Amino acid sequence: MSRVTLVTGGMGGLGEAICMKMADMGYDVATTYSPGNTKVDGWLAEMKEKGYTFRAYPCDVSDYASAQECISQIVKDMGPVDVLVNNAGITRDMTFKKMDKVNWDAVIKTNLDSVFNMTKPVCDGMVERGWGRIVNISSVNGQKGAFGQTNYSAAKAGMHGFTKALAYEVARKGVTVNTISPGYIGTKMVTAIAPEVLETKILPQIPMGRLGKPEEVAGLVAYLASEEAAFVTGANIAINGGQHMQ
Ligand code: CAA
Repeated sequence: MSRVTLVTGGMGGLGEAICMKMADMGYDVATTYSPGNTKVDGWLAEMKEKGYTFRAYPCDVSDYASAQECISQIVKDMGPVDVLVNNAGITRDMTFKKMDKVNWDAVIKTNLDSVFNMTKPVCDGMVERGWGRIVNISSVNGQKGAFGQTNYSAAKAGMHGFTKALAYEVARKGVTVNTISPGYIGTKMVTAIAPEVLETKILPQIPMGRLGKPEEVAGLVAYLASEEAAFVTGANIAINGGQHMQ
């Protein structure tokens, strides 16, 4: 029986590439989408045309009850979750001077509370079965901070604190917990940055002088989910074209 992977926020950006790669590796793949997103059927059909059969579940990852309900449905339909990729995230970029509580809370809840909400219903089962992989998609901006991202950088740095603490607790139980910190990848989140900011402030910080590709991050997720990565835990793996050297 193949293992089940759940990728939060799989419809687009990094998530879609991760879903495809995990399916290529032989996993059964489920993803979440924001309740009310009307594009889900079209996306599933488009994926099917490309040869991928995914299941998609509505889930407000920032809400604990919604996360619990979503995961219990996945378990009913597909079996227990063996690999959890906490990928869903948002930005609300603005300088701290302009940052209000609403935009602070939105990012902390969606990017950080979600990690608790989604991991809590699956972690005990992984421990009982003696096998599990939790991969948290953080960001270079959680490692080094970014202009206009006090909320996002705080949430992304918090994710790695969670990774390290939980990795300790489950280290002897066959469950690994790791963080991946992508740099600027060519997704909608990044291409939404004003072109002059991207060209004059961001690209010059990347030694490779280009944006990353979603498939490059997906390959790393697949490695961390594999048997070969059994000895990697509590790590924060940078994938950023060398930006961390700046
Ligand atoms: N470093 C230094 N100074 C910067 C800067 C930067 N990265 N970005 C902007 N500034 C400066 C500007 O040059 C400007 O200076 P002056 O007042 O002296 O002219 C000042 O800050 C104000 O800049 P803006 O006019 O752009 O201010 P704004 O309020 O309109 O916008 C902002 C602020 C929304 C933060 C905008 O600058 C922005 O979008 N920056 C990019 C933020 C970013 O990198 N987001 C990452 C999104 S992708 C992602 O998050 C994925 C991931 O994990 C990597």
